[in-house]
Amino acid sequence: MCGIVGYVGPRDAVPIILEGLHRLEYRGYDSAGLAVLTRNGQVEIRREVGKLSNLDGLIAAEPLTGSPGIGHTRWATHGKPTRYNAHPHTDPERDVVIVHNGIVENFLELREELAAEGIRFASDTDTEVIAHLIDRYLHAGNDLVTAVRHALQRLEGASAVVVMSRHMPDTLIAARLGNAGGVVIGLGEGENFVASDIPAILPYTRRMIFLENRQAAVVEPERVRCFHLDTGVPFQPTVHTIPWDPLAAAKGEYKHFMQKEIFEQPQAITDTLRGRINFTTGEVTLEGLHLSPAEARALTRIHAVACGTSYYAALVGKYLLERIARVPVEVDYGSEFRYRDPILAETDVVLAISQSGETVDTLAALEEARRKQVRTWAIVNVVGSQAARVSDGVIYMQAGPEIGVASTKAFTASVVDEYLLALYIAQQRGLLTRQDALTHARALALLPKLVGDTLAAVDSITRELATKYYRARNFLYLGRGIHYPIALEGALKLKEISYIHAEGYPAGEMKHGPIALIDEDMPVVALVPQDHVYDKMVSQVEQVKARDGRVIAIANVGDELIAQKADDVIYIPKAPPLLQPVLSVIPCQLFAYYVAVRLGNDVDQPRNLAKSVTVE
Ligand code: AGP
Repeated sequence: MCGIVGYVGPRDAVPIILEGLHRLEYRGYDSAGLAVLTRNGQVEIRREVGKLSNLDGLIAAEPLTGSPGIGHTRWATHGKPTRYNAHPHTDPERDVVIVHNGIVENFLELREELAAEGIRFASDTDTEVIAHLIDRYLHAGNDLVTAVRHALQRLEGASAVVVMSRHMPDTLIAARLGNAGGVVIGLGEGENFVASDIPAILPYTRRMIFLENRQAAVVEPERVRCFHLDTGVPFQPTVHTIPWDPLAAAKGEYKHFMQKEIFEQPQAITDTLRGRINFTTGEVTLEGLHLSPAEARALTRIHAVACGTSYYAALVGKYLLERIARVPVEVDYGSEFRYRDPILAETDVVLAISQSGETVDTLAALEEARRKQVRTWAIVNVVGSQAARVSDGVIYMQAGPEIGVASTKAFTASVVDEYLLALYIAQQRGLLTRQDALTHARALALLPKLVGDTLAAVDSITRELATKYYRARNFLYLGRGIHYPIALEGALKLKEISYIHAEGYPAGEMKHGPIALIDEDMPVVALVPQDHVYDKMVSQVEQVKARDGRVIAIANVGDELIAQKADDVIYIPKAPPLLQPVLSVIPCQLFAYYVAVRLGNDVDQPRNLAKSVTVE
C-alpha cells in the first residue's frame, strides 16, 4: 500500500511532506521520494531506496525547499526496489510530476503506444506511463486539468494519483479511480493538503474531503474544486470533520477496521502481486525463497501449517499447488502438527501461513520442522515477525496492517501468494509453457478489479440479508472442491464476530449426517459457482429446500437457474476456477460483518478473541 502526501500553500512543503510520510511509517518502506516547485519555478526531486530515514539523510545532505510539493512511499516489496523506480515520476522536461498508488492494468499497451511515438522511459514502473500520457495531452494544447482528465480516462485498473506541474504553480491535481487506496484532501487556512491516509495530515486539519471512484480535484491554497473525471462536471463535495481519536482517524470513512480491510482487498492484492510477476512474460520472481530449479524438481511434498482463517487459506492453497505445481500438499493445524511427530522427508517443505507471524501453534510447527531439519517457508503479513525470522524463505503478504481481529484481506492475500508460489514452483520445474504463464499472469492482473467489482456488487445485498437472517441461531455453510475451505472460512467469520453458531461442511457430506439438522430455523449458505461440480451443488440446494430449509446461494452473475432454487442469491462476477474463491469469500465476509453490526457487537474486538494468539 503506497503512501502519498501533498501540500500547497505558503509554507515550505518539504518538512510537511516528510512528517506526513513518517506518519505512515508503521508499515515499512522499500523506497520513498518527493518533489517541490522551487521559488524560481523549477522542479526539484529527491528519491532514495530503503527506509524513510534514508530519504531524510539525502535531503539533509542535498536540501531543497518549495511549494507545492508531493511525496510518496512504497511498501516492503520483493523484487528490486531502486532509486529510479521510486516515485515521483516525470517526463524528461519535468513538465509533469506524479505520485501514484495502485496498478495500471493496461500499462504495457500504453507503454508500447508511447514508445512508438519516441518516448523513452527512465523506469520500469507503470506510474511513469501516466506522466508521459499527461505530458502528451499537455503538449497537444490542453490545459493541465484537461490533460490529466484525458490521460486518466485511458487507464484501466485502480489508481490514486496526485499531479503537479510548473505550468500551473500553486496547484495540485488529485484523482481516484477504483479502490486503490484513498485520496483525502485536508482543508487548511490558506493552505491545503492531499494524502492517501488521514493520519498523514491530521496534525494540520480535521476538515477533510474523501474523493470517490472517478472523482478528481484541483487543489489550490485558497480553494478546492472537485469535478467528475469523465465529464469534467464540477460538484460540491462533503466535508467531513475527523475526530481527534487517531484510531477513529485511521478508520477513515469506515465504521470499523474490519469493514475498511474488506474494502482494501483490491489494493492488498495489487500490493501482494507487485514486483513478483511480470505481466508481459508471466514470469514469477519470489526472491525470498531461494529455490533453484534442481531443488524445485526434487521437492516431494509441502506440509502447510496454520491456524484459523490462515488454515483455510492453506486448504485453498492445496488446490492451487497441486493443480499448478503438481506438488502433493498436506494441510494441518499448527496445534495438531506440533504434537503428532509428523513424518517429513528431507526434500519436503513446511509452509507456515500466518498474518501476524506470531501465532504460537504455527511457530511451534515451524520449530518442529526445523528440529527435523526440513526446509521452512512462511507467508506472513507483519514484516519482521517471528515466523518471518525463523523461516528459511519468506513471502510477505504486503497487505498493510490488519487491525480487525477477524482476518479478511490477509486471507485473500495469502491465497494470491499461494497462487504465486504454485506458479513459481511450476516455472522452476519447467512445467509451464509461455502461453500458460501468460494466461495465469493476465488472470492475476485482472483480479484486483474483479475483487473491486465484487465488493460493489454484494455490499448492499449482504447488508439486506443480514437484516433478514440475523436472528437465526445456527447456520450451515456448504461448498465443494476449492470452495469447501470458503464454506469453512465463511462459517468462521460469522461465528467469531456475531457469536451465532455456524458450521462449514463439504456439501457432499450433507447426506452423511448434517441434513438431519435442516429445518426453517437453520439457514444454509451455499457456494454455487458455475464450475465442474455446479450441478452437484444445485441438487444439494434442492435437498435442503425439500426439508423446508432456507438457502442463501452465492452464485455467478447470469445464473438464472439458482434463483429458482434458493431463497436468496448473492451474485458475484465469474473468475477463472482457481481464483473464484477469492471472490466467493467476499460476500461471506460482508454478510458476517453486517450481521455482527446488526447485533450491535464489537466487530473489531469480538469477545474472548485476540488478533494474535500467542498462547497455547
Ligand atoms: C480469523 O478471523 C481469526 N482471527 C483467527 O482464526 C486467525 O486467523 C488465527 O488466529 C491465525 O492467526 P495468524 O494468521 O496471525 O496466524
